[in-house]
Amino acid sequence: MGPDEILKFSLADFTYNDSRDVLTPPGDFDTWADDPRISVAMSFFEQPLQEAPTPRTTLGHRLSGEQRPMINLTSYNYLGLSTHPEVVQAAVEALEVYGVGASGAAMLSGTFDQHEAFCEELAEFKGTGGCMLFPSGYAGNLGAIQALMQKGDVLVIDSKCHRSIVDGAKLAGARLATFEHNDPASLDQQLERFEGKRRMVVVEGVYSMDGDVADLPALLEVCEAHEVPLYLDEAHSTLVFGETGKGLSEHFGVEGRVGVHFGTLSKSFGGIGGFVCADERLIRYMKCYASPFQFSCALPPAVVAAMRKSLEVARRDETLRRRLWRNVERFRENLEVLNLDLGDSCSQVIPIIVGANGEELITMAMAAQERGLYLQPIDFPAVEAHARRFRISVSAQLTEADIDEACNVIEDVIARPLGRVGAA
Ligand SMILES: Cc1ncc(COP(=O)(O)O)c(C=O)c1O
Repeated sequence: MGPDEILKFSLADFTYNDSRDVLTPPGDFDTWADDPRISVAMSFFEQPLQEAPTPRTTLGHRLSGEQRPMINLTSYNYLGLSTHPEVVQAAVEALEVYGVGASGAAMLSGTFDQHEAFCEELAEFKGTGGCMLFPSGYAGNLGAIQALMQKGDVLVIDSKCHRSIVDGAKLAGARLATFEHNDPASLDQQLERFEGKRRMVVVEGVYSMDGDVADLPALLEVCEAHEVPLYLDEAHSTLVFGETGKGLSEHFGVEGRVGVHFGTLSKSFGGIGGFVCADERLIRYMKCYASPFQFSCALPPAVVAAMRKSLEVARRDETLRRRLWRNVERFRENLEVLNLDLGDSCSQVIPIIVGANGEELITMAMAAQERGLYLQPIDFPAVEAHARRFRISVSAQLTEADIDEACNVIEDVIARPLGRVGAA
């Protein structure tokens, strides 16, 4: 691979390793990753935050080696619950009682009174008979899909579904079929194609790279016509959408028509863990066949105690959600004035789609960080090569001044270089 060719390659090109020794990465990968242009791009990965994931935080800036204050638009702490005083207090108090770890898998010694109480609270919140917890959201999708699907089944998923859903199908040995993003006609075709097979459809509430939402009423109609259940991943929509924060299913008033409600505790809840809510008998069955539930340590009880408090605070204090939506509106208004391409976003996840030029994306990201704005570039293959982007995670904790300052930087380092400012 010559220097001129380096930028023609991406992370999508090195999954096949042709070295004889499995412990030796592919030679081409090393050549590629050692190139200074790629090193700069990779420097955006794993930059260590020095403080809480709040809108004003300090970043260990990889390129300069300095610790820099930043406006942080990348964390999923949408409601600010990660640092909410009551949530932190609940964790501290539980740490004193339970210690740090669960020290066992949930089926054996890893279930504590905290886990049991939280499952009841989540099931009541989501309006289902049962609930089970997982060590992470990723593990939750993996385990739930593994438990529900088997060889010979077909998992029909939206083309933009998260990797954990794809990996769940692989673990289950089920066939994976995708339908065009949010397109009921395409879903209908795929269900038709696999008529006679056991099938399940998976969609997300809010799509994590685009910030658009599932057209649940139309998609459910298709599922019901084929008598196929819908599994709804509400990782980004729980506590954000719906009159009482139940999620997108509540927003559309279709909660009772969803077969499985998935959620994660790592986003609006401000912690870590995954949960699946469904019929009690189904949960009882799933617990016996979900490997990430059976063969991985349960969530620390102190984390569960904190997450119970997150749920309580989010249900009690509607102002958090209202403030989040006010901030989303202000962000959108500011960005629309800059004529930026925000895709079909209608949530707290707002992409700024820059286009096909990966070098330009990285140059902009560096300039933003130089100006104190922490905005992650999202490159191919995480998104399509023609639609590289930045992704803003709006937080209820942002002040109007934070948003305006962030948008001034975005105007200078993204909108102007793209020639958008003043464009019709
Ligand atoms: C749609 C979706 N599902 C599942 C997950 C996995 O959740 P976690 O990060 O809590 O493991 C994510 C994470 O980003 C996600 O966006």
